Amino acid sequence: MSINSALLARTAPLYERVKRVIPPIEWPVFADDVDAILELKKRRNAVILAHNYQTPEIFHCVADVVGDSLALARKAMEVDADVVVLAGVHFMAETAKLLNPDKTVLIPDMAAGCSLADSIRPEDVRLLRQTYPGVPIVTYVNTSAAVKAESDICCTSGNAKAIVEGLGVRRVIMLPDEYLAKNIAAETDVEIIAWKGHCEVHERFSPQEVRQLREDHPGIIILAHPECPPDVVAEADFSGSTAVMSDYVAVTKPPRVVLLTECSMSDNVAVQHPDVEFVRPCNLCPHMKRITLVNIRQALETNRHVVTIDQSIAGRARQAVERMLAI
Ligand code: 13P
Ligand code: SF4
Repeated sequence: MSINSALLARTAPLYERVKRVIPPIEWPVFADDVDAILELKKRRNAVILAHNYQTPEIFHCVADVVGDSLALARKAMEVDADVVVLAGVHFMAETAKLLNPDKTVLIPDMAAGCSLADSIRPEDVRLLRQTYPGVPIVTYVNTSAAVKAESDICCTSGNAKAIVEGLGVRRVIMLPDEYLAKNIAAETDVEIIAWKGHCEVHERFSPQEVRQLREDHPGIIILAHPECPPDVVAEADFSGSTAVMSDYVAVTKPPRVVLLTECSMSDNVAVQHPDVEFVRPCNLCPHMKRITLVNIRQALETNRHVVTIDQSIAGRARQAVERMLAI
């Protein structure tokens, strides 16, 4: 057997998992990196945490833990490994490091950022605190550790309502996603003061697009991520975090569905539900797409890029994340 056919035979069970979304002609391009990454994980006692927006060959073939940002933060606390590779964006790697100060946390590309995290600085949070004395500050995990350090508690799209209501106050500040804040405000009596950050992926969906989808695909079920504008969420059938959307499909098995979110999400969920038709207007997240099999392999081979957090902020940022995880 040639080296190539031995490699293809070894990785054939993994290809089975993704054959509905990766054409056979493309698999040989991925097989060598997948095989090498599995070997490197054993050698380095490493685990890969992958967000739902990672491409299917990462999500289904090399990841040990997959999920939304809440699940990744929770699992990051539990991993038993020397090295954690975060296949996702920088704030997710920072969160994993905050919860694993003694482990090596790697991100395959340091430039994997987030428009929400870039929309607010620690000094903005300090100014808000001065402007609204005594009002608790709830910060979305899609922020830098420095911004988390200025906050009282974190939230994700999966627990934002529970966090806001769990504080037991009349008014909160919720940063930095204006649309998430407004979407949560529509579901609760707590008054929410919002910031003006937006996700560059979700802000592009429009209510006209939702109406067009209903016209073109009668009976379609439309799920929207809560980072979408409120007028999009209002016209959707259901809104929830990436994990909640995935669970919705698993439980209700709609014949035809569209996920108004990042493109890889539909691919990853479609793999698990061959009986559901996925209509795919979607938007790519350029930051999530910086992570590839090639740079995950390089990360494990060369131990890069090591995520570090300044000691002057790590303790306070960790507290904000831990308070969230305790709720
Ligand atoms: P989730 O927490 O829903 O996975 O969202 C993370 C994210 O970055 C969405 O754009
Ligand atoms: Fe940030 Fe939006 Fe990309 Fe999520 S999809 S990482 S919120 S830019």
